[in-house]
Amino acid sequence: MTSNAEALTYDIAETDQAVVEAFGDRMVETLNSGALALMLSVGHRTGLFDTMAEMPAATSVQIAEKAGLDERYVREWLGAMTVGNIVENDPAGKTYYLPREHAASLCRKSPTDNIAVFAQYIPLLGSVEDDIVHCFRNGGGVPYERFERFHEVMAEDSGQSVVPALETDILPLVPGLIERLERGIRVLDVGCGRGRALNKLARLFPNSQFTGYDISGDAVRYASQEARALGNDNASFEIFDVSDLEHSDRPGTYQLITTFDAVHDQRDPLAVLRGIRKALADDGVYLAQDIKGSSHHHSDRDHPIGPLLYTVSCMHCMTVSLAQGGEGLGAMWGREKALEYFREAGFRNIDVHELAHDFQNYWYVCRP
Ligand SMILES: C[S@@+](CC[C@H](N)C(=O)[O-])C[C@H]1O[C@@H](n2cnc3c(N)ncnc32)[C@H](O)[C@@H]1O
Repeated sequence: MTSNAEALTYDIAETDQAVVEAFGDRMVETLNSGALALMLSVGHRTGLFDTMAEMPAATSVQIAEKAGLDERYVREWLGAMTVGNIVENDPAGKTYYLPREHAASLCRKSPTDNIAVFAQYIPLLGSVEDDIVHCFRNGGGVPYERFERFHEVMAEDSGQSVVPALETDILPLVPGLIERLERGIRVLDVGCGRGRALNKLARLFPNSQFTGYDISGDAVRYASQEARALGNDNASFEIFDVSDLEHSDRPGTYQLITTFDAVHDQRDPLAVLRGIRKALADDGVYLAQDIKGSSHHHSDRDHPIGPLLYTVSCMHCMTVSLAQGGEGLGAMWGREKALEYFREAGFRNIDVHELAHDFQNYWYVCRP
């Protein structure tokens, strides 16, 4: 009988050493990238990127002082940023500088997507690793409540990937929709989270009425507070389990229903879609943003953020559904399955759009 170590040694002798080494190098690179993603998240949450973006070359003491942080931690973080080639460190090793070209992808004032916002998903998912490993062994799922910062990070994510593009790119996907919103219609956002998108729409279209449903009390409270702060009298948010929408006694109420990334992690996605169809007026439109994928692993190999999306799916979207005894569809259910579900829910006329600024999502315009 051979031990595992002997078996492995034998196998390696039979393999292409160049491929073994190249793959090993790639794994080391992956370790470094994972570690850097964690430090990007820290840099975002502590405001270090924003602070450095507004400073000339400075010492760790000056940076820590300006950011109001502990110098020893800041210096070690600067070490990770320097060896990760994110921050420049002068040859004498005294000062640090965040190049403007790098700041463009890492700051709250970035003109493009701030990648440090998305980096927060790595520690967020890491915080439930023990629970996930338990589920691998025993089945079941990890409930929403275990993801402490989920709604905060999600709101920041959609706050930069959806909200700024609503008027310019997203609403124009439905011809005539802006005019209908200006005249005044009823709008429902299903799984609204912290309500950033709905509050923006409510501000833009004071003649329309906006309702947001979410199962999370925290998210709904936050959305309601923001509506009050913005003076959005035409927006209301309710704690509501949208699995029950199909039993609503107010069918055909809404002329526009939206879901922003809120179908695939449902306990029963098809029931939610049937509920959306029932709540929609016959001349209404359902606009769904959902993750771009193909429903086949091999077809997603060239996806620019495929590994990130499958990881988010496994460690959040799929598991929160399974935790409720649900279907566990997952974020990468893909276009084919999405179209099948939309049709099964009663939508006959479906257009699929991609937006130039958004390589992460499909935008489905569904009509009865
Ligand atoms: C991925 S998040 C998207 C949130 C928001 N639309 C956004 O883009 O920021 C999905 C949302 O669906 C909500 N949700 C999940 N299951 C739900 C249910 N059964 N009823 C209502 N909301 C639900 C979650 O609480 C979460 O806020």
